[in-house]
Amino acid sequence: MTNSETKATLSFSDGSPSIEMPIYKGSIGPDVIDIRKLYGATGKFTYDPGFMSTAACNSSITYIDGDKGELLYRGYPIEQLAQNGGDFLESCYLLLNGELPNAEQKQKFVDTVTKHTMVHEQMQFFFRGFRRDAHPMSVLVGTVGALASFYHDSLDINDAHHREVSAIRLIAKMPTLVAMAYKYSIGQPFVYPRNDLSYSANFMYMMFSNPCEPYKVNEVLVRALDRILILHADHEQNASTSTVRLAGSSGANPFACIAAGIACLWGPAHGGANEAALSMLEEIGSVDNIAHFIEQVKDKNSGVKLMGFGHRVYKNYDPRAKLMRETCYEVLNELGLQDDPLFKLAMALEKIALEDEYFVSRKLYPNVDFYSGIVQRALGIPTALFTGIFALARTVGWVAQWKEMISDPEQKIGRPRQLFVGSPQRDVPDMDKR
Ligand code: CMC
Repeated sequence: MTNSETKATLSFSDGSPSIEMPIYKGSIGPDVIDIRKLYGATGKFTYDPGFMSTAACNSSITYIDGDKGELLYRGYPIEQLAQNGGDFLESCYLLLNGELPNAEQKQKFVDTVTKHTMVHEQMQFFFRGFRRDAHPMSVLVGTVGALASFYHDSLDINDAHHREVSAIRLIAKMPTLVAMAYKYSIGQPFVYPRNDLSYSANFMYMMFSNPCEPYKVNEVLVRALDRILILHADHEQNASTSTVRLAGSSGANPFACIAAGIACLWGPAHGGANEAALSMLEEIGSVDNIAHFIEQVKDKNSGVKLMGFGHRVYKNYDPRAKLMRETCYEVLNELGLQDDPLFKLAMALEKIALEDEYFVSRKLYPNVDFYSGIVQRALGIPTALFTGIFALARTVGWVAQWKEMISDPEQKIGRPRQLFVGSPQRDVPDMDKR
C-alpha cells in the first residue's frame, strides 16, 4: 500500500489522548484512514455495521463510482467491454490477469478453460442425492464445495500454480454444474460439454439440448447470455465477494470459499433479486395494478420493496441496467416477443418509479436485476436458476479477488470485533432459582 504524508488526527472528548492516523490515497475514489493502530492506542473499536464506511482491503480489480454510475474492470468501462465485441472469457482474462489478452494469450486461455469443462464422473452421484425440486443454489453450494474432494492436486493455496489451476477449474466447471443442476431438476440426462463451442454457446447447449434431437445454437441468444455474464463478472467488495475473501482469509481452499460466496449470493437482497424482481412483476400482473403496488412499496409497514431498484453503492442508474435493457430489446426482437407483457409492465413500472418523489429523493434507480430476469426468462432459463447464472458469472470475480487477497502481503485472517451489549459476567443459578 502506498504511504501518504497526509494524516488524520482523532481527538476524544472523554480525556483519551488524541491519535494520528495515516491517510492513503487510491488511484481513484475516496481516501482511506488507516485505523489499524486505533485499538492498541486507545482501547476503542470503530463501529460500522454493514461496512458503510469501511474499506476492508486494497484492490486493483474493479472500481465503482456510485454517484456517476460508473463501473470499471481493471480500468476499462463496462460499456466498452460489453459492447466492443469481446466475449466473456476476454473479461475473465482481464479480471484475473489485470490486462486484456492479445490474440495468442486469448487463444491459450480459451483452450485451457475449454479443456477443464468436464466434471469428475462421480459428481453425478452428488446430484442424485438431492431432491429433484431442490433449489439450484442449494445444489450449487453443495456441488461446488464438493469439488474440493476431487481436486487434491490444486488445493495448496500457497502454491501459485495450484491457485491458477483451481481458478481455471472453477471458471470452466461452473457452467457444467449449473446445467447439471437444471437437467437434474427436470429429469433429463446430463449433457457433456462440447469443446468446439464457445463458453456461452456450450452452456446453452448443455442446458437445452437433449439426446433425442439436434440443438441449434442461436447466436443472438448466445451473445445475450455472454453479456449477462460480462455484466455480472465482478462488482468490487459486495457481500458475496467479501464472504469469499473472509472465508479465504483463514486459508480455506478456493472451492470451499466459492461455495461460501454462492451461499451469500443466494439472499434476496443480493443475487436473489433478479428472481424476486421477476416474481414481483408476475405478482403485479398488469399496468393497472402499478399504482397500488407503488403505494405498498412506500408504506414502511408493508415490508414490500421494489425489487430490482436501489443499490448500496449506485446512487444513479446502474450502468449494467442500461446494457441489460438494450439486451432485453435485442432478445425479445429475436424471439418475436416485442409485446411481452412482463417487459411492457417493467417499462411502465420503471417510468413511474423514476418520476416518483419517493424514489427520486432516495436516489433509487433500476439495478441490473430489474432487466436480467426478463432476459433470462426469454432465453428459456427457469426463474429458480437465475441466481445460479449470476453465480456462474461471478465465479471469475470471486476467484480474481480471492487470488488477489492470497498474494497481498497485508492479508490477515478476517476477525471483526463487536460492541458487546449483553449481560456482564454472572453466576449460573441453581435450577430452582431460575
Ligand atoms: N424499494 C423501496 N424502498 C427502497 C428500496 C427498494 N428497492 N431500496 C431502498 N429503499 C429505501 C429504504 O427503505 C430507505 O428508505 P428510508 O430512508 O425512508 O428508510 C432508503 O431507500 C435507503 O435504503 P437502504 O436500505 O438504506 O439502502 P441499502 O444501501 O442498505 O440497500 C439494497 C440497498 C440493494 C439492499 C436495497 O436497495 C434493496 O433491498 N433493493 C431491492 C433488492 C435488490 O434489487 N437488490 C439487488 C441489488 S443489485 C445486485 C447486486 O449487485 O447484488
